[in-house]
Amino acid sequence: MNTHKGRLTKDGIRIYQASDFEGMNVAGQLAAHILDEMSAHVYPGQTTGEIDRLITQMVDEAGAVSATIGYKGYQHASCISVNHVVCHGIPGDKVLKEGDILNVDVTVIIDGWFGDTSRMYVAGKPNRKAERLIQITHDALMKGIEAAKPGNTFGDIGNAIQVYAESHRMSVVRDFCGHGLGRVFHAPPNVLHYGRAGTGAVLEEGMFFTIEPMINIGRPETKVLADDWTAVTRDKSLSAQFEHSIGITADGCQIFTLSPTGKFHPTYG
Ligand code: MF3
Ligand code: CO
Ligand code: CO
Repeated sequence: MNTHKGRLTKDGIRIYQASDFEGMNVAGQLAAHILDEMSAHVYPGQTTGEIDRLITQMVDEAGAVSATIGYKGYQHASCISVNHVVCHGIPGDKVLKEGDILNVDVTVIIDGWFGDTSRMYVAGKPNRKAERLIQITHDALMKGIEAAKPGNTFGDIGNAIQVYAESHRMSVVRDFCGHGLGRVFHAPPNVLHYGRAGTGAVLEEGMFFTIEPMINIGRPETKVLADDWTAVTRDKSLSAQFEHSIGITADGCQIFTLSPTGKFHPTYG
């Protein structure tokens, strides 16, 4: 139980109260439920714009607010990043084709609390390389989450992700990171998905943040396209990402964005 209401650590990281976990869980569960529902809407011939339209409608019908519509001029309720798009793909007229892999990233606000999560989908069936990338990226996030407990550092989280991904000869994107969140979308710290064990701020009960590793089959470098949002791999290699919002508890963490129906990792029809 944390009694220091509104406390910031020396690194500027907010320590939330025990009673704040419930608000985060409500927001996280809506974001996860929306992603669960999207599984049925990802197939060859579908457009990314239609998926975003369905998400917008679900956010609206839930009485929630999209955190991304209007954020720095962004105009959509989701980011949809296909194949070599690393993150911040803009939904639109793009038609999915057999074997495309995509990340759908949704952030909702309920009662002022932010729930931010993303996961991978496949239009049809992935090829073996794509399936392996998705599995390793999912497992890399879970390695990071296993390291998310009081007394460990943010460097321990990044290191766990990096060691795991690189042991499978994949690379970790350096240009984007996870972030603190809670009553705001993006707050300190930057949660790096690489690094050295034992470095960085020490994790404390009551910290809320995302872990959202982007893993590439090829090299880690990215570039942002002329639309000022879409980030792609420079070498055009495939990229994958999974994201959870979590809160540090007395002995580990609570995952606010767990899938209500166990659909976080994709299955292939
Ligand atoms: N949801 C993204 C994240 O994980 C942020 C998207 S901002 C947007 O932090 F404007 F591109 F939608
Ligand atoms: Co995020
Ligand atoms: Co996100």
